[in-house]
Amino acid sequence: MKNILVTGGAGFIGSAFARMMVTRYPEYNIIVYDKLTYAGNLDNLLPISDEPNYKFEQGDIAHRETVRRVLSDHAIDTVVNFAAESHVDRSIMGADAFMHTNSIGVYILLDEGRSHGLERFLQVSTDEVYGSLAVGEAVESSPLAPRNPYSAAKAGGELMVRAYHETHGMNTVITRGSNTFGPYQYPEKLLPFFITEAIEDKALPLYGDGMQVRDWLHVEDHVSGIDVALHKGAPGEIYNVAGEDLRHNIHVAHDMLARLGKPTTLLKHVPDREGHDLRYAMNCDKLRALGWKQAHTWETALEATVAWYRNNEWWWRKIKTGEYLEYYKRQYAARLAAAGDS
Ligand code: NAD
Ligand code: DAU
Repeated sequence: MKNILVTGGAGFIGSAFARMMVTRYPEYNIIVYDKLTYAGNLDNLLPISDEPNYKFEQGDIAHRETVRRVLSDHAIDTVVNFAAESHVDRSIMGADAFMHTNSIGVYILLDEGRSHGLERFLQVSTDEVYGSLAVGEAVESSPLAPRNPYSAAKAGGELMVRAYHETHGMNTVITRGSNTFGPYQYPEKLLPFFITEAIEDKALPLYGDGMQVRDWLHVEDHVSGIDVALHKGAPGEIYNVAGEDLRHNIHVAHDMLARLGKPTTLLKHVPDREGHDLRYAMNCDKLRALGWKQAHTWETALEATVAWYRNNEWWWRKIKTGEYLEYYKRQYAARLAAAGDS
């Protein structure tokens, strides 16, 4: 492993992975390849932009010719694919981009990677492919049962990874991560959205009764888990990466507000997300057996995350303009109005 292509590396988790790899492994060259959609942001890569072992290429993972050129120009031996449309609410509004990137894009990367002779291909997937679990926790052999267009398209991508391993003998690994939070997360996802809105004393739209359960994981723990799977995972295997820390959304919001010193009256119950998955839960003994350990607890991770958004308004204030405001209007105006707020 020497020249690693980090696709989707200008997004939230991909950029955390790129920042970690550039400093942890000076002997590797890290090439970030990203289309720079609304969620891609070169500010996320500023901390490493002058490092000699980092480079950036703009492009779409579904664009075969550009993928081929970049694999060849940088003599890539390893691909770690973060590129995705990642927001469930947007996939409910329309799923074209989700199929394009999360399914077709993964296929193009695999197909070009195979022709190029890649040594290793890691696909970053999600606990959402298991669907909503009423009880218990998913292990890697649990059935796939995605329930929204985002997770169905991610499952499609994963199945093609498995097919390229089984059929063509590609050296692949899949990781399935749980709800991730931390610095540089686009402020459409629950925590960065609520933190940045609460700083401005705005109403926080909590879907339904707020009793949905998510398994929370700090982004640095997520990317250290991917690093372990990349270096130690067996070919063709799948590894869950989970906080194993289940919390109701309403309690997550209360904890966050307490740390910001804001009242819980900011929370407004609004009409629920369509087809809302009630509960995600995973077991990650398989990854722990390879030596992965979390560095953060919920308390330390939340404290650090709230402090980061408080101290880095330069980062999120310029995002919350233009396309973001359009999205906000489409997603929240009617919901907040139904809850008697706007
Ligand atoms: P993100 O939306 O912040 O970033 C996605 C990145 O992919 C952006 O930089 C975007 O520009 C890029 N991209 C999108 N389409 C592309 C294309 N066609 N070609 C090249 N680049 C493209 O997402 P994230 O939250 O950082 O998630 C990264 C990965 O981790 C995704 O695959 C997601 O499914 C998975 N995941 C996310 C979470 C989470 O809680 N955020 C949890 C588990 C797994
Ligand atoms: O579980 C892993 C997944 O976590 C990733 O694969 C996805 O890419 C990532 O977006 C995330 O999906 P969720 O749908 O769980 O995350 P989101 O932050 O959108 O929502 C978290 C919970 O909070 C969910 O139950 C919906 C709820 N919610 C969200 C928003 C944005 C609200 O109640 N109000 C909101 O405004």
